[in-house]
Amino acid sequence: MLLKSSTKRGSYITSRFDMNRTLYGPITQLLTMASLPDKGPIADAALEIIPDAALLVEGNRIVAVGMFAALKGAGDHIETTSPCVVMPGLIDTHTHLCFAGSRAGDYSARISGKTYQEILESGGGIMDTVQKTRACDGKMLVELLLQRLARHASEGVTTCEIKSGYGLSVEHELKILHAIGEAAELQPVSLVSTCLAAHITPPEFESPAMYLEHILAELLPIVSRESLAQRVDIFIEPSAFPAAIAASFLKRAMSMGFMATVHADQFTTGGSAVAIDVGAISADHLEASGDDDIKALAASSVTATVLPGASLGLGMHFAPARKILDYGCALVIASDWNPGSAPMGDLLMQASVLSAQQKLSNAETLSAVTFRAARALGLSDRGTLEAGKRADFIAFPVDDYREILYHQGKLKPSRVWIAGKEFSS
Ligand code: NIG
Ligand code: FE
Repeated sequence: MLLKSSTKRGSYITSRFDMNRTLYGPITQLLTMASLPDKGPIADAALEIIPDAALLVEGNRIVAVGMFAALKGAGDHIETTSPCVVMPGLIDTHTHLCFAGSRAGDYSARISGKTYQEILESGGGIMDTVQKTRACDGKMLVELLLQRLARHASEGVTTCEIKSGYGLSVEHELKILHAIGEAAELQPVSLVSTCLAAHITPPEFESPAMYLEHILAELLPIVSRESLAQRVDIFIEPSAFPAAIAASFLKRAMSMGFMATVHADQFTTGGSAVAIDVGAISADHLEASGDDDIKALAASSVTATVLPGASLGLGMHFAPARKILDYGCALVIASDWNPGSAPMGDLLMQASVLSAQQKLSNAETLSAVTFRAARALGLSDRGTLEAGKRADFIAFPVDDYREILYHQGKLKPSRVWIAGKEFSS
């Protein structure tokens, strides 16, 4: 559907009086992402697309969505936006954005033939970033976070989860979680923090089991008391934390009030079964998941999150996203932005490439980075454009929503609003 509008983008008509309610429009196509199923496949025909639309915003909330002609008189101030496609802001549910240093050396070793696990087992990989992040002061970590979040926002990400996990000691994990908390106050992207102290066992500890005991006894009580994170993650893999000890760690963390999420089935299976057993909110990665793992996930309430950025960074196959949907899971796509396996961090580009390779419809792919992603973070106030939701929305300078994935990430949003305010870098 190609709809034309006569108004010019960027011109403003401003009322001199009450400016509380802003009407954005006319919008060539507004994709609400509302009224779609929580799980399983979605055909593009199910998408609610409002042509010649408008969005009425008051403060940080959406007051109404509808046809421009119908809402025209409702705003105190009209901001013209056309021609464009507007959709909910992107939600990145899995990142490791708080780190120092580069792993270009690891990357070079990998493209010369070494595997990620060989590098990890020889003491490089994650430990390399841990050393650089431990040596970095909190102020600099905040500065690095602000730079990365500004880039993410300009690419349409309005909510971002960030894990700790490059500190691996009480002192440095707390430094990282404090840096995330500070960044949340200093820039507009809405942040969700997760404690991933259980990323790998640092050399100071004799065994993974002893390190997990240390986290439970010494770190998580402080994280909980200071409200530094409501979520706990663990990297389940024989080379990191085996499934057998991960389940009891997560159960004990959950009994302290934390929600659980899991790095599951990246290289070997076992992690997604733990996620289901403990009632985690999501199981993330799933490159190695088999049919039985996916069926079990579909029968559970665990969100299946795939991370194409890690497959691209490691030169590995993608997670079986098509099968994950066909078996009836709630599919989410996240960037996994981190210095080791996923240095690119471009969520829209990664979702577009995955959709081409796995044959995911526009509706399935865009759901996986909006309302289904919101559910995976336990957030019910965003992910769709409907009255009462947060005013997180992005505009693309095109007149057909299908252009968004078609350009495979090269088409960036022309404008981004977070909680009702326009983001400018
Ligand atoms: O999700 N798999 C474990 N953790 C990250 C990688 C972290 C790193 O290599 O620094 C991931 O891919
Ligand atoms: Fe990760």
